[in-house]
Amino acid sequence: MSAKNRHIQEFGDFQTPTQLARKACLLLSKQGLTPASVVEPTCGVGNFLVAALETFSGIKNTVGIDVNSQHIDRARVAVEAVGNGSEIDIRQGNFFTTDWRCLVESLPEPLLIIGNPPWVTNAALGSIGSSNAPQKSNFQKYRGLDAITGKSNFDISEAMLLETLDWMAGKRATMAMLCKTAVARKVLTHAWKNEYRLAAADIYRIDAMAQFGAATDACLLVVTASSAKTNFDCRVHDSLDESSVSSVLRYSDGRLLADAAAYETWKHLEGNGWYKWRSGIKHDCAKVMELRKLNGKYQNGLSEIVSLESDYLYPMLKSSDIANSPNPHPSRFMVVPQTFLGEDTGLIKEHAPKTWEYLESHADFLERRASSIYRNRPPFSIFGVGKYSFAPWKVAISGFYKSLRFRIVCPSAGKPVVLDDTCYFIACQTQEEAACIAEMLNNEVAQKFFSAFIFWDAKRPVTIELLQRLDLLALAKELGKDNRLMSYRNSNTQQPSLL
Ligand SMILES: C[S@@+](CC[C@H](N)C(=O)[O-])C[C@H]1O[C@@H](n2cnc3c(N)ncnc32)[C@H](O)[C@@H]1O
Repeated sequence: MSAKNRHIQEFGDFQTPTQLARKACLLLSKQGLTPASVVEPTCGVGNFLVAALETFSGIKNTVGIDVNSQHIDRARVAVEAVGNGSEIDIRQGNFFTTDWRCLVESLPEPLLIIGNPPWVTNAALGSIGSSNAPQKSNFQKYRGLDAITGKSNFDISEAMLLETLDWMAGKRATMAMLCKTAVARKVLTHAWKNEYRLAAADIYRIDAMAQFGAATDACLLVVTASSAKTNFDCRVHDSLDESSVSSVLRYSDGRLLADAAAYETWKHLEGNGWYKWRSGIKHDCAKVMELRKLNGKYQNGLSEIVSLESDYLYPMLKSSDIANSPNPHPSRFMVVPQTFLGEDTGLIKEHAPKTWEYLESHADFLERRASSIYRNRPPFSIFGVGKYSFAPWKVAISGFYKSLRFRIVCPSAGKPVVLDDTCYFIACQTQEEAACIAEMLNNEVAQKFFSAFIFWDAKRPVTIELLQRLDLLALAKELGKDNRLMSYRNSNTQQPSLL
């Protein structure tokens, strides 16, 4: 990486286009904001400060800080040119070592804290050996256990926005910052969870590709501090031009709802139903465990042609099969050495000697699996396996694709079809049961229920926790299918382990 690119990545150095900064200020002005002080905590060359001074005539104090001294020189010149008699304090400094509380104490209110903190993650900084991050101990209080274990990957802007909310508490202050939409949600969730007093919150979506060439969902997050009680809603607008609200996020019962209106309409469908969502089988060794049929033999991912007994081979589907076809047809087979977690695999030697030999001769691949879950387990162990894995019918969804299409999975060549661990499914005993459940889940009522919780811009919007929230019996009642579902349930109780 060139020194220039490294610098850009390390400091998230993408200056906000003047037009965008102006548009953001105009929006705030139209909402009646009349700041007496404007603060840009990572001001760069000062585009936001200039736009603010051009838009708001009553600014008495202008404060800008940036780690980059060349930017600061340019910002000072630009701001002084439009200063309007405002007192100007623009200096080089590090956000994380600046005493913001003390700095803003002397500023006249209302405060406008505006800007565009760097969009870079602590993991990306780690990979280039940068320390442009909050001290771990500081950020721990925001993330608790995740930060302590180092598990949490956070955006530097997230730490900056949270700190900003900290020091604007109790003041007449508005924060308006460009950030990734996922960061905006994390910041709001943290603030609501920790009882920060917020009078209002708005997310205005921006086109990050057009503005910054960044392939991410981004927004202007506008948050106003409150001296009274907190409002737990955030209005979402499709653009900076859009005063109308496309949806409302709400913090309720310790979680963030994506669409408060959809939740209010369909919350009676929430609950733990009879059916349990399951993940597909996890083996972490596709090259050995997944095969294609070739002239009566099998070919593995190492291009080896092998001959195996059929006992431990099952037709399989992956996420792409489930997502891309309404009637997914298995084109591969999976070696499934266990029928339940921890089962003794030594029995394979007797039952299927060719399969045993195959696994033994590829043991080094399986032993190399990095995940600690395979340690101290029988050789060739897999996860996410149980009687449900072998249910003849399934209703499945891909956990990798951003779509809510539920597919019926039918047996193939007289065997149940297994799914890989990128899929989620409900085990069913009959075609009728699977058809009924798939129809219900693909119905718009279920889709609207899920929309109350789904953030489509998340990396993996479809999760097992999301799916499990819908009570299938409540949905069946809503759709007049409860008697049918009950009859399937009654026959399933003969084989409860399938569920
Ligand atoms: C995305 S740019 C935005 C610049 C400016 N706020 C704007 O909107 O045009 C991020 C800025 O943060 C600055 N920066 C990065 N890390 C910083 C830190 N730890 N303290 C202060 N400024 C920092 C960079 O130098 C860069 O100018």
